[in-house]
Amino acid sequence: MAKRVAVGNNKGGVGKTTTTVRLAEALAKRGCRVLVVDLDPQGNASRRLGWTFDAAAPQLTISEAIRADEVGAAAQVVQSVGWETEYADRIALCPARLELENRMSEAGIVGAHRRLARALDGVDRHFDYTLIDCPPSLFHLTQLGMAAADVAVVVTTPEYDAVEAAIRVRDFIAHRAADLSNPSLELAGVVVNGLQQLGSHAFQRDGIRETFGPLVWDPVVPRRSVVLDVDESALPLEGVTGGRAGEVRAVYELLAETFVKAVPAA
Ligand SMILES: Nc1ncnc2c1ncn2[C@@H]1O[C@H](COP(=O)(O)OP(=O)(O)OP(=O)(O)O)[C@@H](O)[C@H]1O
Ligand SMILES: [Mg+2]
Repeated sequence: MAKRVAVGNNKGGVGKTTTTVRLAEALAKRGCRVLVVDLDPQGNASRRLGWTFDAAAPQLTISEAIRADEVGAAAQVVQSVGWETEYADRIALCPARLELENRMSEAGIVGAHRRLARALDGVDRHFDYTLIDCPPSLFHLTQLGMAAADVAVVVTTPEYDAVEAAIRVRDFIAHRAADLSNPSLELAGVVVNGLQQLGSHAFQRDGIRETFGPLVWDPVVPRRSVVLDVDESALPLEGVTGGRAGEVRAVYELLAETFVKAVPAA
């Protein structure tokens, strides 16, 4: 059984998808089998993992699996990623496209929030981890992810609005997990991403530690252009030379170590 981890924040652009993709990479490098579920209609995780939509032979996406409302429906959707590194075959993807927006209109249907959990049921049993990349919202799509997850991880930049949004996620889980038919869901960690040499960043980083205590994972991820570059080029960090690539690889390897300690595989 895979441990399912919903990655979220109520604020956009804080690095939820970057963290999901780079943790998937670092976990796969450690030998873990990782399923990435792209739960954002932007499809950023899908693209950054090198997946492309083939209009001539359209692949099914997570949207169709949710719409099906059937146990195991996600089996039709799991695909390889487009990377060519040796460990890429330990990463699989349930991709997303803009079509996923259409699932929003089903939010009012009784039991709709359980549809992703139902779709994944049995499908991710051969994986160690299922990482669910949520959109910057606490509404239906994120609720599908939280209803399916064992734990949640919040990603935040060391900035006021992002930290407030991270607190909203923590409180949402505390007050609403039972309403999502998932009362045991808990926040397992907080990833601080994009730290820069700014006075306000150091101040906010310290504030995050005061607010979330031991839930804050080490190391903090610094803001580095190579992170943006590999996301832009839809590449793994492996093989990138020069600049800060080695430093960033090491950061994500350590973060993956923290991850497996905080969220032991089943
Ligand atoms: N540590 C970092 N250093 C440099 N750039 C980063 C870092 N983390 C993320 N980025 C870049 O910042 C941008 C936003 O990151 P990302 O798309 O992962 O955020 P997000 O929270 O998933 O956004 P959304 O809310 O739209 O889903 C991307 O261009 C990404 O490559
Ligand atoms: Mg994203």
